[in-house]
Amino acid sequence: MKGIFITMEGPDGAGKSTQIELLKSYLTEQGFEVLITREPGGTVISEAVRGVLLNPEYKEMKPETELLLYAAARAQLVGEVIGPAADAGKAVISDRFVDSSVVYQGIARGLGVETVYSVNRPAIGEYMPDVTFLLDLPAEVGIARKKNQAELDRMEQESLDFHRKVAEGYRTLAERDPERIKTIDATLPVDTICDMIKGKVRTLLAGS
Ligand code: TYD
Repeated sequence: MKGIFITMEGPDGAGKSTQIELLKSYLTEQGFEVLITREPGGTVISEAVRGVLLNPEYKEMKPETELLLYAAARAQLVGEVIGPAADAGKAVISDRFVDSSVVYQGIARGLGVETVYSVNRPAIGEYMPDVTFLLDLPAEVGIARKKNQAELDRMEQESLDFHRKVAEGYRTLAERDPERIKTIDATLPVDTICDMIKGKVRTLLAGS
């Protein structure tokens, strides 16, 4: 069986993890061996880098450092986990991928989309998602959902303005690449979102 690579994107608090678990059950029913991973993280080295990136104490981190660390964590994840799994015909679902860097570092931090792609090219090689689901949510709603958590990480502590740029950046990205990036209203009920995702994946599998 040919592998499939699916990514889930969206602002903080959009409900990606819930949808990933539901999609995993569906793909398992379809006969796939499913591998779930998350960014930044998913390998021992990438999880260590995640610890640096999200540590709320590191307020002095430069946007450039941030960009390179996300790319470094990604390079290890692709080389060690995503690449081999996709090549072995598995279904890989990743909670975030390079689109997160494009939006958070390229657009919200203002480093530029082209810079982000050029830094990430060596990290991702030829592995781009077959389909990406953008769980679209107003920045205010995402932040409010996250505020119920005990402690906010370094990125979640960013201003509302930053999170607005993230939400807007995702919309722009999805408009530019509607073939791959499917936008879903994350304020809809969980079951409705799940049915929409399954429908798109079904279409994709039927066509491959
Ligand atoms: P995480 O706890 O996984 O957030 P969420 O539950 O919202 O997915 O933390 C990941 C954070 O890192 C999130 O705020 C988005 C940010 N991020 C980037 O800024 N650039 C990236 O390339 C990636 C993968 C994540």
